[in-house]
Amino acid sequence: MSDSIALWQAEHRHFARLLDLLERQVVAFLADDGPNYRLMLDVVSYLRYFPDRYHHAREDVAFARLVKRDAGLKPLIERLLQEHRVIAAAGTELLKYLEQVVDDVVIERAKVEAAAATYLVYYRRHLALEDRDIVPRAEQLLTAQDWEAVMAAIPSGSDPLFGEDAEPRYRELRRQIALAAPQT
Ligand SMILES: [Fe+2]
Ligand SMILES: [Fe+2]
Repeated sequence: MSDSIALWQAEHRHFARLLDLLERQVVAFLADDGPNYRLMLDVVSYLRYFPDRYHHAREDVAFARLVKRDAGLKPLIERLLQEHRVIAAAGTELLKYLEQVVDDVVIERAKVEAAAATYLVYYRRHLALEDRDIVPRAEQLLTAQDWEAVMAAIPSGSDPLFGEDAEPRYRELRRQIALAAPQT
C-alpha cells in the first residue's frame, strides 16, 4: 500500500474517532447528563478546519484524476464532491450553535440536537462510502505521480490535533482521544 493511501485511511480513522467522541457528548446532551460542550466545540472546530481545508481539498484533486482514468466513477465522485460542500456547511452551522452554547447564549435545544445528529450521520456515511468504493479504486488507478500532483496542489498543512506540532488548545481533546481508544 502506498504512503498516500495509508495516510488517507489513517485520517479517516482519526475523523471516525472524533465523531465517536462527539456522539458520546451528544448522548450526554440529550440525557442532560453533563455534556462537555468545550470538547464538542473542539471536535467540530478541528473537523471544520483540518479535514475541510486539507483532506477534502486533496480528495477533490485526486477525484478529478480518478475520473480521467475511469469515467464510470463520475456519478459517485460528483456525489462525494457535493458531500464535501455539505459537510463544510453543516460543520459551520453546528460550530455556530456550539459557540453559542459555550457563550451561554439561549438557543433552542432541538436545533443543536438536529444539527449534531445530521452531522454525525452524514459524515460517517461519507467516510464509509469513500472507504468502500473509492479508496480501493484509487489504489488501483492512481500512480505515484498522481499523488505527487495531489500533494503539490494542496500542500499538507500541519495537523493541529494528530500531527507532531499539536496545538495547545487541543490538549484536552488529545487526552480524551487517548482515554477513549487504544492507538492504532
Ligand atoms: Fe471525502
Ligand atoms: Fe475522506
